[in-house]
Amino acid sequence: MKPENTQLEQAKQKAAQEAIKHIKNNHIVGLGSGSTAAYAIKTLSQKIRNEKLNILAIPTSYQAFLLAVKHGITITTLEEHPTIDVTIDGADQIDPHLNLIKGMGAALTREKIVASATKQNIIIADHTKKVQTLGENNHPVPIEVIPFALTPVNRKIQQIGGNPTIRETKGKLGPVITDNGNAIIDATFGPINNPKKLEQTLKTIPGIVETGLFLNTTNIAYITTNTTTEKIERKQKTT
Ligand code: A5P
Repeated sequence: MKPENTQLEQAKQKAAQEAIKHIKNNHIVGLGSGSTAAYAIKTLSQKIRNEKLNILAIPTSYQAFLLAVKHGITITTLEEHPTIDVTIDGADQIDPHLNLIKGMGAALTREKIVASATKQNIIIADHTKKVQTLGENNHPVPIEVIPFALTPVNRKIQQIGGNPTIRETKGKLGPVITDNGNAIIDATFGPINNPKKLEQTLKTIPGIVETGLFLNTTNIAYITTNTTTEKIERKQKTT
């Protein structure tokens, strides 16, 4: 691994370790998706063992589910526990107001459902995820779409000024299929000066299940380098 990659992995681990300090005995914990959240899942399993904690977890993706099971974390469901105490998740972009773009791992819909059921949402990310404005560097907004609606949704995104691409991946021909059986459109809009308006507009398009714009859901973010930790906190969840 290149030194800069090692430093990035160290930064992710550091953020995960900070977030795990918020987990207490008897908590219901939401498990995020992605490589940074994976560090949190591993660190949580060690904490559960070391401190003999009684923790039940709700994964936001099949990836998180498999990892949690592999590390011996007990899984529960939203049916049994519709309120989650703490969720620890990653992000693809974070602005100074703790608004996020998520979904590069295609887990955005379950991540947003879990976030909205959570009392304290903690985002962990290395410093490369920090931006002034969401959409900077032409970063796309991932959008989960019912396959039947892909073409009309593509057109409607173009009509509102977006540049949509249906996500494909290595290892499979054709579109990525999410854990919910849907497709993902990655749409670039340039810098998003009014994310709330964009979110509202996208949500009116039939066939769009969810967007990767996470606005007002985050309570705390730990943004790290391999040597520094920045904690950004919002006192109250406003949605
Ligand atoms: C998953 O769909 C995303 O929302 C992830 O939280 C995001 O891609 C972060 O992943 P990394 O921690 O691997 O960057």
